[in-house]
Amino acid sequence: MSVQQEFVNAVLAGAQEGRKPFGGAFAPSNIALCKYWGKREPALNLPLTSSLSVSLGRLGTETCIHLKEGAQDAIALNGAPVAADKSFARRLTGFLNLFRPEGMCFAVETRNNIPTAAGLASSASGFAALVLGLNDLFGWDLPRQKMSMLARLGSGSAARSVYDGFVVWHAGASDDGLDSFAEPVRFKWPDFRIGILELCTAEKPVGSRTGMNRTVETSTLFKEWPQKVRHDLNRIEVAIATRNFDLLGKTAESNALAMHATMLDAWPPLMYFQPESVAMMHRIWRLREEGLPLYFTMDAGPNLKLLFAAGHEAAVKEQFPDVQVIAPFEG
Ligand code: PMV
Repeated sequence: MSVQQEFVNAVLAGAQEGRKPFGGAFAPSNIALCKYWGKREPALNLPLTSSLSVSLGRLGTETCIHLKEGAQDAIALNGAPVAADKSFARRLTGFLNLFRPEGMCFAVETRNNIPTAAGLASSASGFAALVLGLNDLFGWDLPRQKMSMLARLGSGSAARSVYDGFVVWHAGASDDGLDSFAEPVRFKWPDFRIGILELCTAEKPVGSRTGMNRTVETSTLFKEWPQKVRHDLNRIEVAIATRNFDLLGKTAESNALAMHATMLDAWPPLMYFQPESVAMMHRIWRLREEGLPLYFTMDAGPNLKLLFAAGHEAAVKEQFPDVQVIAPFEG
């Protein structure tokens, strides 16, 4: 039995099954303010460090799932069937194999309302919605921590997408992976805003999984990363608890840039910045010098996500008329 299957069996141990004809669920996308970058164990997606994110409210993935007879799973994305040999379908089917009743196939309809062109990760909300949907279909009634562990197997950052608001994913230390799950942070911040800007739709040169492994294996700067994360995570938790926006913005921006520094130090080097990304950083730094408390974060893609407080929304919109503003704690 694979290590993943053993893990799934351990998580599901003791769960009662009360199968329904259909399962359905929504999960939000999330943006990390203190990043997850580097695994200590790849098969179970166990991270080297803890991380902290904010979920994007109503932006995410809606998934509907049922069991069917037949030779293969039927997968549809945003209303269009996805051929079984496409990487998206293969990744989903591989994950569903861990939960498949003998001789049965799944029909999965999944819809993203995330602006995909802006390079927002849909794998986090996608795997989280799939696990929430499976829980609904099979009637397991699992606690969220367990669903976080299951979603983690599909994509690390999906561990955080089973909750709204600020979320911390504890790295855990055990080899069995049963202590690596996410939990909500108890503080909310209604005035917190995220701005999504589509700068550049260039295809990612290297996916996050490959990029992460390459960085861990080859970057010497990466040795400093766990210490940087401990420091930043602590500051971000304090910033959230005390609603200190400058501390939050400064720490999140510095954390993202440090992550990108470890990527630049990898071999072959990894650079997700495009010229537009760099120009945008300089613009944000200039606006900040002029007095606008605006910060950014950036993941394994060329787009920046703006971080600001509601009171500065008008000023941000004036500077960036195309920005899509997300209020993670509203509605
Ligand atoms: O969950 P993955 O394997 O797609 O990795 C996510 C990595 C980052 O988005 C760069 C950081 C994070 O914590 O979300």
